[in-house]
Amino acid sequence: MQKQPAEKHLWWQTGVIYQIYPLSFMDSNGDGYGDLAGILSKLDYLKWLGVEAIWLSPIYPSPLADWGYDVSDYVGIHPLCGTMEDFDRLLAGCHERGLKLLLDFVPNHTSDQHPWFVESKSSRENPKRDWYLWKDGGRDGGAPNNWLSVFGGSAWERDEASGQYYLHSFLKEQPDLNWRNPEVQAAMLDVMRFWLEKGVDGFRVDALWHVIKDSHYRDNPLDPDYVKGEMLPYERFIPAYSGGQAELHEVVGLMRRLVNQYKERVLIGEMYLPIEELMGYYGRERDTGLHLPYNFQLIVLPWKAVEIFAGVNRYEASLPAFAWPNWVLGNHDKPRVATRVGAEQARIAAMLLLTLRGTPTIYCGDEIGMRNGKVPAERERDPVGRLLDSGKFGRDPERTPMQWSGGAGAGFTTGEPWLPVGEEAGRVNVEAQRGDEGSMLAFYRRLLALRRAEPALQIGEYVPAGQRGNLFAYLRELEDRCFLVAVNLGVTRARLAIPRHLDVTGEVVLATEPGRVGGQISQYINLEANEGLIARVKPCD
Ligand code: NOJ
Repeated sequence: MQKQPAEKHLWWQTGVIYQIYPLSFMDSNGDGYGDLAGILSKLDYLKWLGVEAIWLSPIYPSPLADWGYDVSDYVGIHPLCGTMEDFDRLLAGCHERGLKLLLDFVPNHTSDQHPWFVESKSSRENPKRDWYLWKDGGRDGGAPNNWLSVFGGSAWERDEASGQYYLHSFLKEQPDLNWRNPEVQAAMLDVMRFWLEKGVDGFRVDALWHVIKDSHYRDNPLDPDYVKGEMLPYERFIPAYSGGQAELHEVVGLMRRLVNQYKERVLIGEMYLPIEELMGYYGRERDTGLHLPYNFQLIVLPWKAVEIFAGVNRYEASLPAFAWPNWVLGNHDKPRVATRVGAEQARIAAMLLLTLRGTPTIYCGDEIGMRNGKVPAERERDPVGRLLDSGKFGRDPERTPMQWSGGAGAGFTTGEPWLPVGEEAGRVNVEAQRGDEGSMLAFYRRLLALRRAEPALQIGEYVPAGQRGNLFAYLRELEDRCFLVAVNLGVTRARLAIPRHLDVTGEVVLATEPGRVGGQISQYINLEANEGLIARVKPCD
């Protein structure tokens, strides 16, 4: 293998991002909702944990139909979250501590309460009519076409007053903006500029794939593989025309050109796409597309070594030469990793997240192994849970309050929490795990510390080292430093012979079984059930 000299990498490549779901992170005033002052009070914890950046899910004024993803003012702060002064204090607090702060940017849709939509809806002649996607009904007198909302039902809502329909890819309270209109582009770029000027370090761009639709509004084709009840009703059709059109790359280019005018800011895009398609969003060449199109493979692939290993290798092989990889284990839309794969495998998952090549994003609470909370029907908050089968698709369980300590409000609030505290909060909480070397929190901290200390784990090459049954292994190598990572995704003992051309004799430096640390490994890796280890080994030739 050719040795790569260490080149300069930027913070968003070497660092770890921590996603905060603000309403559930820390409540400073006892109203039951997390807020910006609460986040500020936890920055020292995040520093201690060892992350480099935080991304905040939306904190803007909003009627909260979709808990903030329905924005009614892009340049304000939701009163539940605090004030702009609180935001300025939080940003300063981050920067004082050497932490970066990313905001959620929601370009695809506004709230139906946003003044732009209120105007747009007021008449067919309103100058903002074309800021949204208005159409006459179809020939049959129904919706203009067969597009479905991700959250169920038609993506079109009829407005009685004008007789026309507007498009909403999500809730009807979230009308889609018309990004083909230059005025919309300018207004939304102004929003980004507002926050960039304030000094935010970048954006996670919400639902980016949906932003550009077919200009002819063609019907989506049926998906022959659709399984009713198992998949979202939305997935009945292949969304060939309702998103992801070629001109989306131009929109991404507009955003990127703006971000490029500022120093070391980052643009991350949320898009659940097959790898090959995802790669296109890095842009045709360096500095033209997203810095990081989110890679959700560790969420969407079955938790099997053969699938994950193949997925990692395919991802690595597909990356354009200039592109930087990234990994995600969970977020506020998906069941928590500890629920998905179990408490023990959640440690393996953490090991992968923090040692695969690329920028990791940790979802708040995963570092203590939080599992999905139980949310009884009468306390349900997520509109998706109410519109669809909540047991299957509802997102409240991964949004329950961060568990800081035992006791009634889990240290999150002194009031009544907006979502119930998880049942395990008495045991699974930061306070309890802080002093426990065997805890998930301590494990995350060790992984983060090792990653920070070892450039090979941040920017080193990725070299696959084999897979057999439930076990797979890979190397991370930079100049004369090399680490082997071996993980067992199964519940039985497993063994793997590392190919001879990779000499992996060395010493275990971190492991799920603390007793293994300091031990030697050789070409034959033996792992117990649910076991993972990182060893410092000889660099490849
Ligand atoms: C993706 C967000 O992560 C999700 O929470 C939201 O409901 C949709 N986009 C719509 O904005």
